[in-house]
Amino acid sequence: MSQLQGEIISAGAPSSNLGNYEEAVANFNWEDVEKQFSWYETGRVNLAYEAVDRHVAAGKGGQVALRFSDASRDETYTFAELQALSNQFANVLRSRGISKGDRVFVFMPRSPELYVSVLGIIKVGAVVGPLFEAFMETAVKDRLEDSGAVALVTTEALLPRVKRDELPLLKYVFLVGENIEPADGIIDYYKEMELAPAEAEIEWVNREDGLILHYTSGSTGKPKGVYHVHNAMLQHYYTGKVVLDLKEGDVFWCTADPGWVTGTSYGIFAPWLNGATNVVRGGRFSPGDWYETIQQNKVTVWYSAPTAFRMLMGAGEDIVKGYDLSSLRHVLSVGEPLNPEVVRWGCKVYGHRIHDTWWMTETGAQLICNYPSMPLKPGSMGKPLPGIQAAIIDDNGKVLPPGRMGNLAIRTPWPSMMRLIWNNAPKFEEYFRIPGWYISGDTAYMDEDGYFWFQGRIDDVINSSGERIGPFEVESKLVEHPAVAEAGVIGKPDPTRGEIIKAFISLREGYTPSEQLKAEIARFVKEGLSAHAAPREIEFKEKLPKTRSGKIMRRVLKAWELNLPAGDLSTIED
Ligand code: WT7
Repeated sequence: MSQLQGEIISAGAPSSNLGNYEEAVANFNWEDVEKQFSWYETGRVNLAYEAVDRHVAAGKGGQVALRFSDASRDETYTFAELQALSNQFANVLRSRGISKGDRVFVFMPRSPELYVSVLGIIKVGAVVGPLFEAFMETAVKDRLEDSGAVALVTTEALLPRVKRDELPLLKYVFLVGENIEPADGIIDYYKEMELAPAEAEIEWVNREDGLILHYTSGSTGKPKGVYHVHNAMLQHYYTGKVVLDLKEGDVFWCTADPGWVTGTSYGIFAPWLNGATNVVRGGRFSPGDWYETIQQNKVTVWYSAPTAFRMLMGAGEDIVKGYDLSSLRHVLSVGEPLNPEVVRWGCKVYGHRIHDTWWMTETGAQLICNYPSMPLKPGSMGKPLPGIQAAIIDDNGKVLPPGRMGNLAIRTPWPSMMRLIWNNAPKFEEYFRIPGWYISGDTAYMDEDGYFWFQGRIDDVINSSGERIGPFEVESKLVEHPAVAEAGVIGKPDPTRGEIIKAFISLREGYTPSEQLKAEIARFVKEGLSAHAAPREIEFKEKLPKTRSGKIMRRVLKAWELNLPAGDLSTIED
């Protein structure tokens, strides 16, 4: 067990929304959360209404909903403006016959149009499919194809990565740009928006109807479409209240891109369900720009990731002094283990505890967290959300006592739990193989005080800068390169990024290893799949370790890399 466990940083804000943790757990009831919503009586819902229109109806239409800035734009939108714009986009979609249950994807950099599109898609009852802007041809095609998407919102710059001739179901592309040539199936986004009325009927759906489809990686096979329903809003709302601790007048900044689940659940839904002002900053990471964003917008609640905090720590204390960060009240982190060192640095330099939170694409919302009113143990993910039962169980479903490492599991169900893996029932069932439990794929232990401590993953999923990468998808791309005979991909520990992608490659006859070839292969993945999936390190090997059935043994590659014993080799080829 960790020696760090003894270190405790006392509670930051006893008067936060959650109040006393033990009392909140004892008194918790999801029905009390449901009663916050108008649909408690009718059962007919729409998350976009609850996130935007409801605030307008309550007389808060003039409040700022979105503060957007990037290198070329700096714009503010009120809830009333967002309501009108999302109504317009809903009308644009309706005029093309897009309706309940259709999958409509958004593939563009962070921009007001992206947020308006997501809300408009939800308003007509369609299912949003977010795609990260760095995705290249293959990644885009796989996701659109698997989901059977009928429409896509994208930009002129990204359009060349959409292979429309290979996607027969994709009927419409709404194109955001200045000089759009009308063409078959290509629709000028701005022009249509201008003509569309600002009033729209909301499509009232059932709580269990589809909301969003997030593709995420596993260790085998293509990315999985994780399907969430409108009912998830209960947990988006509640965690926004007690974990983000959002209050009237808060200015919230989640640094994640909506291409990933953090950027939708907490970059869109949780803050707006709670009526907060949502800050969105486009463009890339830079310490100065980030501190400037906090200063300029007077950010009060800030949600980011360990890799960003480590980079900010690397940029040093002096740069922090150049900005006024006194608006900050609450700081949180998600995506990978948050180093105790970073928590200590945050206390010293920002004067704030950084609150780690644990959850996954599949869980839809936060499940294990540190709360402002609770003592914090640096290095621990915290305690289960009220209403959530988490445990460490062995492979037979036996609950293990404190201190024992095992599978991190959650009692089923909870409001934001995924409802399907698109087109892949067997994958879905794997998570629920032990009756009554969701098996996360993470290992952890719980200490005597009920705090959970992350240990690792049981599968080969790579976590690089908080982005989840499936080794199989990278390997599949690598072997498309003419020089590559076979490839095995692992996560290699890295002080800043958590892990980096390392590829072991055996070359085809006639190719000789060289630095130039390494660079070319890395570029091939970057241009075909995405930048974050490209290997930062490549090592050529004569032969790769394989099982007799031909499966590359990533476990052995990892052992080579880390100079560890390779473990059981009874299934190896030779
Ligand atoms: C995996 C999920 C939804 C959050 C963003 C990532 C790792 C997530 C933590 C944490 C240690 C963490 C886990 C998890 N992870 N949060 N606080 N401490 N590890 O979502 O892409 O679905 O990845 O990220 O391994 O299973 P994701």
